[in-house]
Amino acid sequence: MSSLPAPDLARVAKDLETLASYRDPEAPGWTRRVFSRFDRAGRDWVAGRMEEAGLTVETDAAANLIGRLPAAAAAGRSGATDPPGEAGPPGEARPPGAGRPGAIVTGSHTDTVQGGGRFDGIVGVLGAIEAVRCLRQAGAELEHDLVVVDFLGEEPNDYGLSCVGSRAMAGALDEGHLALVGPDGRTLAEALEEAGGRPDALAEARWSAGLHCYLELHIEQGPVLEQARVPIGVVSGIVGIHRLLAHITGQPDHAGTTPMGKRRDALLGAAETALAIERLAVELLAVEAARAGERLAIRRLGHARPAAGGVATTGRLEVRPGASNVVPAEADLWAEARSAEEKTLVEFERKLGEELGAIGARRHLGTSLSWISREPPVLVTDWVASAIGQAARSQGIEPLSIPSGAGHDASYMARLGPMGMVFVPSRAGRSHCPEEWTDLEDIGRGIAVLAQAVVICDHREEAVPGEAAQRAT
Ligand code: GLV
Ligand code: MN
Ligand code: MN
Repeated sequence: MSSLPAPDLARVAKDLETLASYRDPEAPGWTRRVFSRFDRAGRDWVAGRMEEAGLTVETDAAANLIGRLPAAAAAGRSGATDPPGEAGPPGEARPPGAGRPGAIVTGSHTDTVQGGGRFDGIVGVLGAIEAVRCLRQAGAELEHDLVVVDFLGEEPNDYGLSCVGSRAMAGALDEGHLALVGPDGRTLAEALEEAGGRPDALAEARWSAGLHCYLELHIEQGPVLEQARVPIGVVSGIVGIHRLLAHITGQPDHAGTTPMGKRRDALLGAAETALAIERLAVELLAVEAARAGERLAIRRLGHARPAAGGVATTGRLEVRPGASNVVPAEADLWAEARSAEEKTLVEFERKLGEELGAIGARRHLGTSLSWISREPPVLVTDWVASAIGQAARSQGIEPLSIPSGAGHDASYMARLGPMGMVFVPSRAGRSHCPEEWTDLEDIGRGIAVLAQAVVICDHREEAVPGEAAQRAT
């Protein structure tokens, strides 16, 4: 195995800073939400960085940005003689598919939540591009195509859906999703088209080239690595996430003349629902997740860690007509539950349905509950996790095995083949906020581990057919 040069931290820092400059100036933090012009501009810039790194770039029908380095082209034929720093243009590469079957795919997302930070997802895309530069500079001759993807819209969007791009690549974005309507009255299909996708040809976005393995570098978004003072985490599994929209209808009435006992206040029904969601999370999910977390941890490198998941959150509420002197007539409430155990999420759904019905009956409100998305928990593939562990040790780091409480594009890519993830620490565990931070040195370590893991995985014999990451339950 050729030894790889260290990532160029100054170049990575500049890339992070430049991408962070593509932000919505009217919004808090480093906001770059999917389907915004800021996201489009940022991804155009990312495409340029992919090309400069020697990747051939295309956009698929789901508007995923895909940069490909054909097999045996890591040396770039010209790359081996590139000066340190920027990798040169792609050399005389073999056409895609000329290497061993199945690509090594790596990447993440560059959209952010409202008021988000500069690292979530971004480190996985810019880090993958830097890993390509390191591989090309080293003249590494990969036997598989190496593909870097900036997946479209990993964060929940205005249509209530997350992981749009990776969902489509896994063949799991359906007509029902495309018909979801956003606050501006547009459908997800219309938004996707405007973002450069082709919703009418969505089937073409399904990954058909075979997947040797999928690797994703990501910030931890929690406190475990920092507290343990370990710079690299090998992810053991990813929580399942079920997202819901509760629609509650009451009656608009005069706030000064309607007696308290005669009201049908939709907002109060929603408030009780939010409290029920919190209670269910504490009562049901926490117990179950502790058990599941133990199971995940025991499967891995012997490090017992706190369970991921076992949480539920109401993150958005809309009330109509929205005046202080009118009894609220309608409320829409968006929430989610997460657990490492699918059966816990199913139980959560059942109990919440009962609770909402009871709240409606007690307050004389109409209620309806729709489950917008259900992402089951997944375990990573053993051999990919081992390869990442080996890559970390080659950098002198003994990694920690940890479950992910955050959702990732990796959950969908795991449906297509073997999957593994590398985590780097998050300062104070903060994420989805402007304060989100990961030290540059830690990002550099993560990129080095990713690049080394690509080489190790490349050498592995072909995956057994059907060998994909498993559903956790
Ligand atoms: C993705 O950021 C998530 O919601 O976990
Ligand atoms: Mn996120
Ligand atoms: Mn993310």
